[in-house]
Amino acid sequence: MELINTIYEMKQWSKERQNNSIAFVPTMGFLHIGHVTLLEHAKKIADKSVLSIYVNPSQFRPGEDLDKYPRDMEGDLKKAKNAGTDCVFIPDSNEIYPENYQTWIEVMELQKGLCGDSRPGHFKGVATIVCKLFNIVRPDFAIFGEKDFQQLAIIRQMVADLNMDIKIIGHPTIREENGLAFSSRNAYLTEKQRFDIAPNIYKTLLQALNIIKNGEKQAVNVENFIIKGLSVFKEFKIDYIFIGNKFTLKKTDIIDNNTIIAIAVWLGNTRLIDNAQLCSE
Ligand code: PAF
Repeated sequence: MELINTIYEMKQWSKERQNNSIAFVPTMGFLHIGHVTLLEHAKKIADKSVLSIYVNPSQFRPGEDLDKYPRDMEGDLKKAKNAGTDCVFIPDSNEIYPENYQTWIEVMELQKGLCGDSRPGHFKGVATIVCKLFNIVRPDFAIFGEKDFQQLAIIRQMVADLNMDIKIIGHPTIREENGLAFSSRNAYLTEKQRFDIAPNIYKTLLQALNIIKNGEKQAVNVENFIIKGLSVFKEFKIDYIFIGNKFTLKKTDIIDNNTIIAIAVWLGNTRLIDNAQLCSE
């Protein structure tokens, strides 16, 4: 497995392999089983797999967890190696955002609502870094987890709008046995939060899907059902519940097969997101 720190070397690496297909997994590190699954998938679908590890400052707002975002480079490299990753790109912020940096990507409609409302500017940072990484790594495929559903929709739109020849692959969320979606931010949770309380987010989403399957079509009733279900756990503070179209990310009143339920919940100082959809792609 090769480790690369500079943009020049990363571009060279990809150029030298232009006859190979490249699958790319961009991450902010602190890899968990979800990331490892993406890396294993990358290995399966392309000749070469590339992982990037970069905690992108431009997607954090002042006061968010940029400084305390969990890091474990040694552990990450071991996991990447075990997953058969061919190359790890670990760029330096001074090179990614040099002093006179001025260019930003915004996916205007899809960045609105959901996490976009709670974290203004977040998706501008995400779209920009992903676009830059795509230009540097030049992958044929890029793989993202479906837990960050709005992020995935935004990246798909950006790739289409900017005519990038990259196939974006969404990978189903990997969960702990108790249903909690794997996330680097789970590291912030106490044992009790992680094992007793947080799993109730997905449990409640599944119950909501169940009432929909049993005939409930009114989004407002499903939203109230989720609010009621989560209110049993006083530790939760709901940031948003979104019930809407999974392609346009517009809210719906009447639920149909394209509906996704996405949720963000505060548990103590940790913000957790998850989603569930009626029909997966
Ligand atoms: O999902 C993430 O880890 C980040 O948002 C990404 C896509 C690596 C961009 O920094």
